[in-house]
Amino acid sequence: MLRFETAGESHGECLVATLTGLPAGVPVSVAAIDRELWRRQQGFGRGGRMKIETDQAHIVSGIRHSHTIGSPIAILIENKDWKNWTEALPVEDIAGAEDHKKPVTRPRPGHADLAGAIKYNFHDARYILERASARETAGRVAVGALAKAFLVEFGIGVLSHVIAVGEANLERPATWEELVALSQRDEVLLGCVDAEAEQRMKAVVDQAYKTGDTVGGVFEVVARGVPPGLGSHIAWDTRLDGRLAQAIVSMQAVKGVEVGYAAEGAAAFGSKVQDTIHYSREKHEFTRGANRAGGLEGGMTNGQDVLVRGMLKPISTLRRPLESVDLETRDAALAAYERSDIAVVPAAGVIGEAMVALVLASAMIEKFGGDSLAETRRNYQGYLEQVKNF
Ligand SMILES: Cc1cc2nc3c(=O)[nH]c(=O)nc-3n(C[C@H](O)[C@H](O)[C@H](O)COP(=O)(O)O)c2cc1C
Repeated sequence: MLRFETAGESHGECLVATLTGLPAGVPVSVAAIDRELWRRQQGFGRGGRMKIETDQAHIVSGIRHSHTIGSPIAILIENKDWKNWTEALPVEDIAGAEDHKKPVTRPRPGHADLAGAIKYNFHDARYILERASARETAGRVAVGALAKAFLVEFGIGVLSHVIAVGEANLERPATWEELVALSQRDEVLLGCVDAEAEQRMKAVVDQAYKTGDTVGGVFEVVARGVPPGLGSHIAWDTRLDGRLAQAIVSMQAVKGVEVGYAAEGAAAFGSKVQDTIHYSREKHEFTRGANRAGGLEGGMTNGQDVLVRGMLKPISTLRRPLESVDLETRDAALAAYERSDIAVVPAAGVIGEAMVALVLASAMIEKFGGDSLAETRRNYQGYLEQVKNF
């Protein structure tokens, strides 16, 4: 079983992520982790914060000589902005602390501010938003990169692309080769494989910039090379579709998830939705008429590409703030403004990849076990042999 945790606040000293359960012997490249961290920071519509931070993974345990050693892996990611917050958010109280605080007393609609302030009994939402912030996802992406390094050993790749920003949609399917090319780009606009659709998406973000507004959108994560039989139909919490849904909706601002073509399917007749089953006698292989199920049937992978989409609401912090109430005076007031992104869909796709990779790696480890990569591989190959001879 793979377990990960993150700690750290948006303007604290650093983020910390730990990953426990990867077998020993998985090759790890710090440059590959940093590349994923870089990808999370890209996209047209990001705010000033991303110009301050150049995230880098500082691995402090669990990896030696570029390979996992089976022990928990811990990664630190420095917050460069911390130097501007040492007095506002000191670990130990300092003299005159009150004067240095940057309180948030006008909670922002759509944020954790108000619910968190009530729950944790703070009249300053600062401590809430520091942790609710999606800065935390840098930790997820770092450990997700390790999950990807494990999956690659089994020929499994996990990539993403943007299929909608506001009302601008990608109106055709993307090929795997296009997703690979997209992931290798050194300049990221909106993470869409189609240049014309990407320009329409850019126009939506431009409009939000001009009007002091924000936008959301939809990203799709695709996992290729996944064997049939990960997850199980036998219980609610072993179903892989449910586990993927939780992983995706746990992301900040993601309010909806779709496995395969769920929304289209809900509006169509069954004869147009289920993926027909065929058999190739030459290849001794089952094939499918389509992949509208997104590679999952009965909570199990079926050997087709796993397709999961995440739907992001528009970013909550608006330059033209919405109505709120001051926590101290209870008077009507405009919501606080913190430096903010306007659109984050490509970055969310990268985080989605990390979450899907972590769920798939966990399911692989549950099914095939192994304390070393060699042992996991042996078990995996035995299973592939069984599938081949089915
Ligand atoms: C990559 C990413 C970056 C984000 N950046 C911001 C931001 O700059 N400003 C903001 O108000 N919300 C931002 N959000 C969304 C908030 O973190 C999120 O809406 C908030 O924590 C409340 O959680 P909820 O929307 O899941 O209910 C971002 C989300 C993601 C995925």
